[in-house]
Amino acid sequence: MAHKPVCCGLSTLEVVLSVLFVLMTGVSIGLLSVIATRRNADTSPEELDPTVMPTENPYLVGVGRADCTGPVGEVPLMGYANLDQTAGGIHTRLYSRAFIVDDGSKRVVFVSADIGMVSQRLRLEVLRELQAKYGNLYRQDNVVLSGTHTHSGLAGYFQYTLFMITSKGYIKPSIQAIVNGIVKSIDTAHKSLKPGRIFLNKGEVEGSNLNRSPHSYRNNPAEERKRYKSNTDKQMVILKLTGLDGDGWFAVHPVSMNYTNRMVSGDNLGYASYLFEQEKNIGSLPGEGPFVAAFASSNLGDVSPNIKGPFCVNTGEACDYLNSSCPIGGTKMCVAMGPGADMFESTRIIGENIYKKAKELYGTARQEVKGVIHTAHQWVDMTNVTVQLNSTHMGDPFWDGIRDALVGPPSNETQDCHSPKPILFSTGEMKKPLPWHPDIVDVQMITIGSVAIVAIPGEVTTMSGRRVREAVKQELESQGAFTNMEVVIAGLCNIYTHYITTYEEYQIQRYEAASTIYGPHTLSAYMQLFRGLARAIAEGTEDKLPVGPEPPFFDESQLHNLMSPVPVDKKPPNTTFGGVLEQGEVASVTFVSGNPRNSGDMTEKTFITVEKYRNTTQEWDIVHTDASWETRFHWIKGSRGYSNATVEWHIPSSAQSGKYRIRHFGHRREMMNFRPVIIPYEGTSDVFGVS
Ligand SMILES: *[C@@H]1O[C@H](CO)[C@@H](O)[C@H](O)[C@H]1NC(C)=O
Ligand SMILES: *[C@@H]1O[C@H](CO)[C@@H](O)[C@H](O)[C@H]1NC(C)=O
Ligand SMILES: *[C@@H]1O[C@H](CO)[C@@H](O)[C@H](O)[C@H]1NC(C)=O
Ligand SMILES: *[C@@H]1O[C@H](CO)[C@@H](O)[C@H](O)[C@H]1NC(C)=O
Ligand SMILES: *[C@@H]1O[C@H](CO)[C@@H](O)[C@H](O)[C@H]1NC(C)=O
Ligand SMILES: *[C@@H]1O[C@H](CO)[C@@H](O)[C@H](O)[C@H]1NC(C)=O
Ligand SMILES: *[C@@H]1O[C@H](CO)[C@@H](O)[C@H](O)[C@H]1NC(C)=O
Ligand SMILES: *[C@@H]1O[C@H](CO)[C@@H](O)[C@H](O)[C@H]1NC(C)=O
Repeated sequence: MAHKPVCCGLSTLEVVLSVLFVLMTGVSIGLLSVIATRRNADTSPEELDPTVMPTENPYLVGVGRADCTGPVGEVPLMGYANLDQTAGGIHTRLYSRAFIVDDGSKRVVFVSADIGMVSQRLRLEVLRELQAKYGNLYRQDNVVLSGTHTHSGLAGYFQYTLFMITSKGYIKPSIQAIVNGIVKSIDTAHKSLKPGRIFLNKGEVEGSNLNRSPHSYRNNPAEERKRYKSNTDKQMVILKLTGLDGDGWFAVHPVSMNYTNRMVSGDNLGYASYLFEQEKNIGSLPGEGPFVAAFASSNLGDVSPNIKGPFCVNTGEACDYLNSSCPIGGTKMCVAMGPGADMFESTRIIGENIYKKAKELYGTARQEVKGVIHTAHQWVDMTNVTVQLNSTHMGDPFWDGIRDALVGPPSNETQDCHSPKPILFSTGEMKKPLPWHPDIVDVQMITIGSVAIVAIPGEVTTMSGRRVREAVKQELESQGAFTNMEVVIAGLCNIYTHYITTYEEYQIQRYEAASTIYGPHTLSAYMQLFRGLARAIAEGTEDKLPVGPEPPFFDESQLHNLMSPVPVDKKPPNTTFGGVLEQGEVASVTFVSGNPRNSGDMTEKTFITVEKYRNTTQEWDIVHTDASWETRFHWIKGSRGYSNATVEWHIPSSAQSGKYRIRHFGHRREMMNFRPVIIPYEGTSDVFGVS
């Protein structure tokens, strides 16, 4: 046994790499895998017909969904770390989806939000609001917050310097929209609590994901790899919650939209939710209706939806396998693309695959989840964790690094800790103006009967996720209190700590490994911590776990919004705001526009409508909003306060024939008596026919 400290610090090398890598591969898709047994060792999971009433006490279940779309102009999108990728409109709206389960004595809340990841700041603000509203009912130990990992959500909700740089600071309207959306989805779930049952099913989704770092994966021991048929997990686990009156919800991961996209979008997982919800909520506009379907992220760290794989966009050659670079143009020209002709089609194809499988699994879910609920949570200072390691997992770390004269050399401890990673910029030791990186992280696990949900504070690679699942399962079952546990990894939970690779993958130092901020033993540390939670649950001592050091909640005066103020909106001569500038052949209309940041809180509202004329009542019915997949609201910023809003309706063949119009609603800023005032405006296209 050797003892190694876990260490901390991300180098600028990684920051640079994160941009490069994104160019290479786009995003990841991992599927939430999970589920099933029960608390008593003497009973096996039953196959039940969901139409039969349960004999024992049912759970109380509640579900809710709320819009969490922040300001869709100028704010950077969170994911590709590309400051030029700023918001300009809406492809699909972003939602928080909440599920509450209560076993009569304990209650858990699982939230999946269409955002890049949950940040510590976001979680702390949500917990404060819940405390103010519900007292001690919803707490750090029984509320799990997970991000779907869309790379087309808004940034600005972080309190650590590194993330603030890629976010243009702490953007109050952005974080407020997410906090409000999450809390509102929990409110709705809380109000909708009623007796219900939970069914579990799982299956494999084919043709939707690819390992983007196969070279790292191959460094895992051969015997371990042999146990799995693929270098990605294809399993999707669904939990179907049915009220006794038959409504339901469901759980499963996204990223097909690339960094050229400016429109806020839920991406492939958001689209899978959209399809499922639209199917069940007949006649409702998107974001409305009682049926809620969440597709949560899992061990997606090294998994991409761009299944055509990486190639050199300039020459068409294959990229170099080891370093993903091209003979001409280097790594920048190595791009991975998804199955479709463009990113919208790729998003659609992957989203549909996931939706179809989920629908099938939903329809055939018979295995009922029963048994009591457990919750275990700790705050852990990752710079103060000592990992117990078997000697086989010990390399002989060496330091081959480069230093950055800017901040001075990292300490010897940090250097040893990160070997073989060269450290350019030791963020773990940088505390000014605020820490660059979190030291204190949340580790959390909940169990509902035979299902254990492990809330991982970052992006775990495929193999890392498998190791965590195995360790947790073993620990839970070791005491005999649980059998046949289905352990699911919920990714991007509670706080973001970048990537988590295996020790062997770390040695290769591709992107994921270079972004494993607590060093080569990060995974071992998490396994030790999650084992600790699982053991406590198995022994029934989870209430005695040390709470750990509370994370800092920096004063808002220390957090700065680095966005430039919104200028006064201008319009070309002889036009009005909302006036139509251009009407295209397809249903495309360009309006004179104001800056969407002037519109303030637009959650549960819309910037655009597609309306159909009803002859009988002579009224216009709203058939689409900006949340609809078929519509695209592009906000195009010009210079000196000029901007346009172009609305496209990609008319599906299923559209009913009739007369239509497109409308746009916005707000403009002007100066009146030397004070800025915000004035609403609207615009309407000519009427056009669809036949
Ligand atoms: C990538 O690896 C190849 C060898 O496989 C090497 O020749 C090339 O210089 C490397 N390129 C970069 C950018 O590291
Ligand atoms: C992003 O997608 C668009 C089409 O939707 C495509 O033209 C462009 O090449 C893609 N860029 C990258 C880097 O994948
Ligand atoms: C480190 O952890 C130990 C317990 O594991 C604790 O006693 C000690 O106070 C911690 N040190 C710091 C600086 O947090
Ligand atoms: C070390 O290896 C032994 C035997 O393979 C195993 O039983 C033990 O659990 C391992 N310990 C840790 C901390 O991984
Ligand atoms: C760091 O390590 C170097 C080389 O081993 C040694 O010369 C130096 O004294 C060490 N510095 C500290 C502060 O321990
Ligand atoms: C604006 O409209 C007025 C009156 O219709 C016209 O005289 C003027 O030439 C127009 N200006 C421009 C720039 O089109
Ligand atoms: C609606 O009214 C228009 C004329 O006002 C007519 O041409 C059209 O056929 C009517 N459509 C239906 C579905 O009744
Ligand atoms: C708005 O659209 C008009 C007409 O297409 C175009 O001339 C103008 O340059 C656009 N302005 C901006 C800011 O894109």
